[in-house]
Amino acid sequence: MNDYNNDKYLVTAALPYANGPIHIGHLAGNFLPADIFVRFLRLKKKNVIFISGSDEHGVPITIKARQEGITTQNFVDKYHKLNREDLLNFGISFDIFSRTSSENHKKMASEFFEKLYNDGLLIPKESEQYYDQQEHQFLADRYIRGTCPKCGYEDAYGDQCEKCGVTLTPNELINPYSALSNQKPILKTTKHWYLPLGKYQDWLKEWILENHKEWKSNVYGQCKSWLEEGLQDRPVTRDLDWGVKLPLENTEGKVLYVWFDAPIGYISFTKELLGEKYKDYWCDKNTKLIHFIGKDNIVFHCIIFPVMLKMHEGYVLPNNIPANEFMNLEDSKISTSRNHAVWLHDYLGQYPGKQDVLRYVLTVNMPENKDSNFTWYDFKKRNNNELVATLGNFINRVFAMLQKYFESTVPECTFTSEDLGLIKDVNKIIFEIGSDIENFHFKDALNKFMEISRIGNKYLTDQEPWKKLKTDVDRVKAILNICVRLVYKLAVTGSPFLPFTSKKILNAFGANDVKFDDSLENIDFCGLKVNSIGLLFEKID
Ligand code: MF3
Ligand code: ZN
Repeated sequence: MNDYNNDKYLVTAALPYANGPIHIGHLAGNFLPADIFVRFLRLKKKNVIFISGSDEHGVPITIKARQEGITTQNFVDKYHKLNREDLLNFGISFDIFSRTSSENHKKMASEFFEKLYNDGLLIPKESEQYYDQQEHQFLADRYIRGTCPKCGYEDAYGDQCEKCGVTLTPNELINPYSALSNQKPILKTTKHWYLPLGKYQDWLKEWILENHKEWKSNVYGQCKSWLEEGLQDRPVTRDLDWGVKLPLENTEGKVLYVWFDAPIGYISFTKELLGEKYKDYWCDKNTKLIHFIGKDNIVFHCIIFPVMLKMHEGYVLPNNIPANEFMNLEDSKISTSRNHAVWLHDYLGQYPGKQDVLRYVLTVNMPENKDSNFTWYDFKKRNNNELVATLGNFINRVFAMLQKYFESTVPECTFTSEDLGLIKDVNKIIFEIGSDIENFHFKDALNKFMEISRIGNKYLTDQEPWKKLKTDVDRVKAILNICVRLVYKLAVTGSPFLPFTSKKILNAFGANDVKFDDSLENIDFCGLKVNSIGLLFEKID
């Protein structure tokens, strides 16, 4: 198990592109695991900050803005605002959610590049690229269309044919034309700067393959195959008018490649949050930097960004990168362009106040080790059978009996050894929940949490306090006291997963600043008058 004692944590969630709304795939693969992890660390009273924001550069964003007929800045403004609100509405507890089109960010990204440039670490190379003479600009691969050399489809992109799926380079297209002007582009020489990844190959092999064998096997495996294949130098600049301008003379019309500037956002946003104190995290070897991402981001976070950090010097390297696989929707790939997705704002329109239900169902189906699937059938079933009939039922029964028998005041009592044995068993489960979360096993942790409410229900069914009220009220007191303890343990340990529900329960206890270890301690609630909590979950038909 990791040593989680004296360290600082810098936790990041991959920056979503500001080119469309947030859907359940973003939540299940990236934001929820990060949020659960961070909420857990805060509950353990660890020093942690949680960073994310909008990724606002790159060619696809410029294309979409054009299609909508608005400026690129207005386009990203719109999605940054929407996405930020959606994520906050779901309780994703960022310390900051900023954006890469801000001046702060551009300044840091530009200085980062400048340092590598001045240290002579980037390799300039000239190459021939397609150029649109009418629009006076170089064409990104996506802006070049033409006939697919493989299947003959006439509208293939410069990087891929949508019809047959083959990956292409622009010069493979037959009869290329510009998507901007429909004119035939010419080839023109341009200069770009490359990251010499090949030079860092041996270092990466040692750092990842030798020193980070504990990384998730999907992550480790992808890194291994990249490293075995051999790394090519990668250009980190582009001919484009949207992005971070190069801090070099005579480079008009060139910007940093989006995948160069975006991860620097993790640093620039930390600086925006903390001022110069950002160095306490980024430049201190005791910091554990942990990147939550989806599997399509592995190479950038495990290979390219670490090489950038290493070249720059002075910054910590990631300690772990617990990437997830993808979540499908009703057995097919989530697709923004085909509108095959569940958008967060649509969900909340349909199920207002039910953030925790979605958080629960997405976590139970989290694509931790393989692609997973979300279905509405499963959503309803889990809501009705698990949240309503198991968790909600237990807690609401305990509160109802406490009110009915003891005017909502937790009674004094003496326990049997069986009662105490039950608490001990539950504490053992709670301990495991903690280590599961520390090791990024969120599904296991959540299942164990539900197991506690099953234990509670079974205890009530076995003990039948309602039958003993007249004959053995002392026994009823003990039973309810035990159940109250279980409810409290559920509220504390469940708070990383179901923060809204947990808050309602803790409010009933009048508890606010709770610690994870409170759930392991045998707090004596005798004499406490609890407030009512209302229905925690309701059936969905
Ligand atoms: N925007 C990218 C995506 O959605 C993720 C960028 S993560 C960062 O795939 F590291 F670059 F910030
Ligand atoms: Zn094709």
